[in-house]
Amino acid sequence: FEHAFAQMKDLEAGAIANPDENRMVGHYWLRNSDLAPNADLKKDIVETIQQIESFTHDVHSGAIHPPSATKFTDVLSIGIGGSALGPQFVAEALSADAPAMAIHFIDNTDPAGIDRVLAKLGDRLSTTLVVVISKSGGTPEPRNGMLEVQNAFQEKGLDFSKQAIAITGTGSNLDQLAKSEGWITTFPMHDWVGGRTSELSAVGLVPAALQGINIHEMLEGAKEMDIATRIPDLKSNPAALLALCWYFSGDGKGKKDMVVLPYKDSLLLFSRYLQQLVMESLGKEKDLDGNVVHQGIAVYGNKGTTDQHAYVQQLREGVPNFFLTFIEVLKDRSSASIEVEPGVTSGDYLSGLLQGTRKALYENERDSITLTIPEVTPRMVGALIALYDRAVGLYGFLVNINSYHQPGVEAGKKAAAVVLDVQSKVMEALKK
Ligand code: PA5
Repeated sequence: FEHAFAQMKDLEAGAIANPDENRMVGHYWLRNSDLAPNADLKKDIVETIQQIESFTHDVHSGAIHPPSATKFTDVLSIGIGGSALGPQFVAEALSADAPAMAIHFIDNTDPAGIDRVLAKLGDRLSTTLVVVISKSGGTPEPRNGMLEVQNAFQEKGLDFSKQAIAITGTGSNLDQLAKSEGWITTFPMHDWVGGRTSELSAVGLVPAALQGINIHEMLEGAKEMDIATRIPDLKSNPAALLALCWYFSGDGKGKKDMVVLPYKDSLLLFSRYLQQLVMESLGKEKDLDGNVVHQGIAVYGNKGTTDQHAYVQQLREGVPNFFLTFIEVLKDRSSASIEVEPGVTSGDYLSGLLQGTRKALYENERDSITLTIPEVTPRMVGALIALYDRAVGLYGFLVNINSYHQPGVEAGKKAAAVVLDVQSKVMEALKK
């Protein structure tokens, strides 16, 4: 761990070899701009957050509005992977308490899925703000989603450019398109922020702020956790403890899968968010010295108690090839509790079933970790994001891999481009 902490510091200082691949660690600066390595970057981060606030304020007040109405009512976010999972998780976790604007997502190139979203929006398309998110600005799925939505705008006689913004790398195809078509505005996606760690950049903060979620609290929670997880004393550092549990559960080889069960409906998508964060960061063929290691931790999960009625049978009695993460939330609801039996509430059941399941697994020598949080608030969500970012980074150093690149995902994108190119040539030939 001493080595891991030293590596973390070196990495942030840009002192590690292979700077291009490791620059993505810069996402830490977003949650604590005091850490930015120079004044220009610090200014850039502060200005981006101000730009988000002032844009959101203008949208909510109606200073920025669609041509046909005085206010926008809905947000349609188009993006995939790192440009979708964070905003989806945060919306699921926090939008119920922040209903400024309703949010919808297109995160695939499935035509029927796109139709479903457009049908749900119906006439509200005329008051929908479209947020196209793509770091590279060239990923086919969001490109297709955007084209389909543009088509729907045209069919309804609406002007897409007056209702769209882009969050993308400066100079990307998307950036150029948005600027040439005169979209409302664009927000930068810095090249030193990786997709899966971009939730606390414009990628996650713009959709969150539009819904009315308190992004300051999110950033504050992340900053506090960032500070807490820099402490080089293992026992007082929650991210180090997490990484340590993962390490020992899987013999340092990722031999066990991580099953994540938040006992709270609103944290359902946290499991999916972690799937990408952990698997894309740690699933690596080679270590930092070039040795073939085939590292990684598979993640799956959904929510409790729902999944107790699905695969807990396997977890308790089947192959012990996993460790479980229970996420317990102490506050059960905002309204007054109703007794479902004398002196017993639904929340008592939720907590009792978590404890019972954990005990049953323990009795059969199945490993589990329990993460307890007081309630699901923007601050807590920011802290969770920062906690797992740091735990993944520290684990990566423990097993000597680069957690900040994704050659496997990029290989898949290249292979798909070849297949699609062949397909379009076949189609052309058939047409002729
Ligand atoms: O983490 C990643 O790199 C991927 O999941 C990307 O976020 C995803 O492929 C989308 O890429 P982009 O934002 O460039 O459209």
